[in-house]
Amino acid sequence: MASIPAAARTLTSRAPEATFALGGRLAAVARPGDLLCLWGDLGAGKTIFAKGFARGIGVEGTVSSPSFILMAEYPARLRLFHLDLYRLSNATEAVLGGLLDERQAEGVTLVEWPDRLGPTLPAERLDVQIEGTGDEPRSIRLVAGAPDLERYLEAAGR
Ligand SMILES: Nc1ncnc2c1ncn2[C@@H]1O[C@H](COP(=O)(O)OP(=O)(O)OP(=O)(O)O)[C@@H](O)[C@H]1O
Ligand SMILES: [Mg+2]
Repeated sequence: MASIPAAARTLTSRAPEATFALGGRLAAVARPGDLLCLWGDLGAGKTIFAKGFARGIGVEGTVSSPSFILMAEYPARLRLFHLDLYRLSNATEAVLGGLLDERQAEGVTLVEWPDRLGPTLPAERLDVQIEGTGDEPRSIRLVAGAPDLERYLEAAGR
């Protein structure tokens, strides 16, 4: 009998390595066109998650936070687009700057500071909401914005 999968789940991460590993597990189920939005305060662990995701998807070399260039692109099993919109003042700038574009349909896109996109943020996305900073354990909530994205909830493990 088919069960209805949960549309959200929450995990606890007690170390940076655990957040990195979670990113890697989620990367295993990434498909072309997926959008993952990484929410959380400064120092929450968004970039650590992105680094683990990048490793999991087969990016070689170092992934650093694209704060100044806004978007970095890496070839891998699926092309990875990593956006950090912290410095952006509004969504118009992002749209005009072509930060969300059709090429991303062929790869997977991770966005730090997605709030900067305002109403232009697509509803069909996986939200990764990281709560906690410093040495605190992190509460990481995954919310699937479409049934297709519930595969990430399953891939997260416990
Ligand atoms: N459980 C944890 N998960 C993730 N990071 C952790 C955890 N515990 C401690 N940390 C530390 O928190 C920091 C997270 O930094 P990171 O650059 O990933 O944050 P960020 O959310 O990308 O911040 P920013 O908004 O500045 O881009 C690292 O220094 C990391 O070692
Ligand atoms: Mg960051």
